Amino acid sequence: MAAVLELIVGSYEQVVLGYRVATDDEEWTAEANFTHHAHTASISALAASERFVVTGSKDETIQLYDMKKKTEHGALLHHDGSITCLEFYGTSHLLSGGEDGLLCVWGTKKWDCLKSIHAHKGQVTSLSVHPSGKLALTVGTDKTLRTWNLTNGRSAFIKNIKQTAHIVRWSPDGDKYVVVVDDEVNIYDLETASVTGTITNPKRISSVKFLNNSLLAVAGDDEIVRLCELEKLKCVCEFKAHETRVKAVDSFMMEDYCVLVTASNDGLIKMWKLHLKEELEPPTLLVEVNTSARLTCLAVWKPSSVQPPAEEPATASSTSEELARELSKTKRVRIATEVVVLEDESKPRKKKKKDVGK
Ligand SMILES: *[C@@H]1O[C@H](CO)[C@@H](O)[C@H](O)[C@H]1NC(C)=O
Ligand SMILES: *[C@@H]1O[C@H](CO)[C@@H](O)[C@H](O)[C@H]1NC(C)=O
Ligand SMILES: *[C@@H]1O[C@H](CO)[C@@H](O)[C@H](O)[C@H]1NC(C)=O
Ligand SMILES: *[C@@H]1O[C@H](CO)[C@@H](O)[C@H](O)[C@H]1NC(C)=O
Repeated sequence: MAAVLELIVGSYEQVVLGYRVATDDEEWTAEANFTHHAHTASISALAASERFVVTGSKDETIQLYDMKKKTEHGALLHHDGSITCLEFYGTSHLLSGGEDGLLCVWGTKKWDCLKSIHAHKGQVTSLSVHPSGKLALTVGTDKTLRTWNLTNGRSAFIKNIKQTAHIVRWSPDGDKYVVVVDDEVNIYDLETASVTGTITNPKRISSVKFLNNSLLAVAGDDEIVRLCELEKLKCVCEFKAHETRVKAVDSFMMEDYCVLVTASNDGLIKMWKLHLKEELEPPTLLVEVNTSARLTCLAVWKPSSVQPPAEEPATASSTSEELARELSKTKRVRIATEVVVLEDESKPRKKKKKDVGK
């Protein structure tokens, strides 16, 4: 069965490009579908929800693009400096970080700024929202890692890092996170907030993506993409993805396999088929596109790409309850199960309380 999805890339040339991908067991194809030229400087960040693609730029604005109508949907003007990172939480919220040190939480219904937090003394370099929606992590040029309680917008705790980290990511289960500093991936445990292990890449890391809770795809300033097992603290599989350095890596699951998406400095985007099994084998190429642009960032848009917490509130709440139970053991972090700021407003059924047996 063919699925609908689009590859979205941002470029130095101020343009956002969309490629419609037709998926088929026999052959995948990718065709240029839209060009969005709303910025006046290079694109620095990109994120996609079920309905919208948001782009951040050095021109200090965040532009909204409606994927359903294929039209521009306005701009978010709040940051005073380049936009450095963007991340959706389900379909209800967007978080943005900037050169101005601000972390902003936006509601996607009216696109209002719900919270504006002075997160770092320098720039915010990366952000990541916990799968429960209750915590966010940010790293910045002030060489700190900060945890934000999204219920009250306050700092939960601060950790000093030896250098500026440029990437932070929660694992899909939210029990750990990775902080990338130059060529190192440091793995942190949620409960203790301390480093449990480090994986060193041969080159500076440009992008990482969790393929499952223990497997991380790592791309850096070379043409190789490495798949690293966090428990084993080593890369178990690597393959030459491009002819020049890889700028961005993303992934999503199809029925029974993982699709890796890579973008390189020479403007190519490639999609790869990877079977997530015990003995990992290098992925096979599904399709490639030459964008002829100098790419900066990448996202995959799928109309059905709702994040698990938004799609399955039951699962999410039980997970965060578990998390809360876990967290209540420590003094550092406590999570209240009854208050959720980043609640998905688009799913009213979540608010109905029903006892389902047992
Ligand atoms: C882009 O994709 C839409 C469907 O989402 C299609 O209707 C439209 O014709 C495509 N546009 C171009 C220029 O290919
Ligand atoms: C993740 O994928 C790897 C490699 O395919 C597999 O060995 C591992 O069991 C998976 N881990 C989880 C937590 O699903
Ligand atoms: C991509 O296309 C451009 C022309 O549009 C060409 O100059 C370039 O060599 C191509 N890149 C690759 C890697 O094929
Ligand atoms: C966040 O703040 C709320 C309200 O002040 C508090 O009840 C909750 O325990 C805090 N959560 C964390 C994770 O610290």
